[in-house]
Amino acid sequence: MKKTLQELVAMKQRKEKIVALTSYDFQTAQILDEHCDFILVGDSLGNVFQGNETTLSVELDDMIYHGQIVRKALKNAHLCVDMPFMSYQASEDTALLNMGNVIKKTGAQSVKIEMNFSLLNLVGLASQSGIPIVAHVGLCPQSYNTYGGYKKQGKNKDERDFIYELAVESYKNGAALIVIEGVPEDLAKKITEDVNVPTIGIGAGKYTDGQILVAEDMLGITPSPRPSFVKAYANLRESIKKAAVEFKKDVKKSKFP
Ligand code: KIV
Repeated sequence: MKKTLQELVAMKQRKEKIVALTSYDFQTAQILDEHCDFILVGDSLGNVFQGNETTLSVELDDMIYHGQIVRKALKNAHLCVDMPFMSYQASEDTALLNMGNVIKKTGAQSVKIEMNFSLLNLVGLASQSGIPIVAHVGLCPQSYNTYGGYKKQGKNKDERDFIYELAVESYKNGAALIVIEGVPEDLAKKITEDVNVPTIGIGAGKYTDGQILVAEDMLGITPSPRPSFVKAYANLRESIKKAAVEFKKDVKKSKFP
């Protein structure tokens, strides 16, 4: 059975850490599923899978396509699918229809949106319509052009207050889970203490209820330099390269087959 939101809340309550990774394809999702509580089909697929500099060009159809593929692999982990740039910001009606479509077509148990205050009402509308919302606060990659790049957030009091209020208000409006990215550890800790839904951090220190990384970063497929908070638990880039070199040698010398 795939983990429900209620089970993730219970994990927070018993202080059991939530293990989360991204995934975009069947085989990787199948390997990760057993070891994860939460799998996100992130719009980071724009960078990682499609090779773009930002996530801004990712289409709703891309998310549905990858969501459907990953869903087939999951038996254990909760499935969350990201809503891409401009699929939920233009109007509440369009947002609800797009979110509903993602849930219907991918079997996702929740959808993630990058928050700002103008979206609080949408969080409530979606939750009441049976669409659980994961609210992403802090460094929001879809605001790349507004921030002028991928920059840590919460560096001064105004930014900290903004992120804290946004997280707490998202929770009060019905968000089922909060993703906190790229903020100081003590701010993520305070948010985690003050909301009754799980928080999952990325580059936000150790006090969040769970941790998420982009799987390709964690597996060492992403080329260096990787973000400073990433720990690579394997060096698959090197392993793949070595395998390709060996294969090439064997083919050239007619050693394979
Ligand atoms: O798109 C993504 O993969 C994300 C996670 C890194 C949180 O938003």
